[in-house]
Amino acid sequence: MSDETDGSANGKGDGANAVAFEGVSKGFGGKDVLCEVSFGVPKGKAMCILGRSGTGKSVTLKLMIGLMKADRGKVLIGDEEIGALNEDGLSRVRRKMGFLFQSAALFDSFSLYDNLALPLHRLDRSRSREDIDKTIDEVLDSVGLKDDKNKMPVNLSGGMRKRAGLARAIMLKPEVLLVDEPSSGLDRITSSEIDELLLKIKNEQKTTLVIVTHDIHGARRVGDEFGVLDGGHLIGLGGADELEKSENELVRKFISET
Ligand SMILES: Nc1ncnc2c1ncn2[C@@H]1O[C@H](COP(=O)(O)OP(=O)(O)OP(=O)(O)O)[C@@H](O)[C@H]1O
Ligand SMILES: [Mg+2]
Repeated sequence: MSDETDGSANGKGDGANAVAFEGVSKGFGGKDVLCEVSFGVPKGKAMCILGRSGTGKSVTLKLMIGLMKADRGKVLIGDEEIGALNEDGLSRVRRKMGFLFQSAALFDSFSLYDNLALPLHRLDRSRSREDIDKTIDEVLDSVGLKDDKNKMPVNLSGGMRKRAGLARAIMLKPEVLLVDEPSSGLDRITSSEIDELLLKIKNEQKTTLVIVTHDIHGARRVGDEFGVLDGGHLIGLGGADELEKSENELVRKFISET
């Protein structure tokens, strides 16, 4: 682990973290899905969350964007506790964030263009049509969908929907980008193009990334830090080299590229 991450992956909220969990627990129907989970994602770094299906990876992202509230502990975006914000505060903090849902939720009755134009227009009603068109063309080009903007979501393939969802998440150049399984449903080439795009966003825009993924090759290309969730606990946290030497076999399996 580098010196830089050494001091900040401890979930203590030292100010250098863009996102942090401090002793976060979250359960449903009396059963804990997350149990006192703590970690921090330093500004401008990428954290990849790994783990079996149903271990709380999507729940972790939903807690970050305030779609769910922690039962115990704190979820911090910068130095703001997301669970303690009122609606105005939540909207303000969310404006700094982009979120790609696992299902790449698009509005089915709107074209791809309108799916992207809607949030742009809603955030800034004075924005000109030319400016909106330019932003949409640029972002669709970056995800390889520039010729598809007039299509309806039903006419997009699963992978295209995923890329459309990513376009919407990155369009406003968020400070923090949360991505739930960017490679699911994508072929290897498209999937690695998405990884390169995430890397570019991290390097050029200094965006902090939190990525939930099952694709370890992509994760190791983009990620600085890795967290492995199992049974409600973070059983591994650190750099790839460090986790490869973990005493926990499951951690070694998740981080291994073979
Ligand atoms: N709103 C909810 N109400 C009740 N249970 C929920 C809710 N959201 C998630 N859960 C439960 O929490 C657990 C973790 O769900 P989560 O979606 O975080 O899994 P995951 O790690 O993302 O899995 P996958 O890799 O399959 O996407 C599951 O048992 C799920 O059923
Ligand atoms: Mg999930």
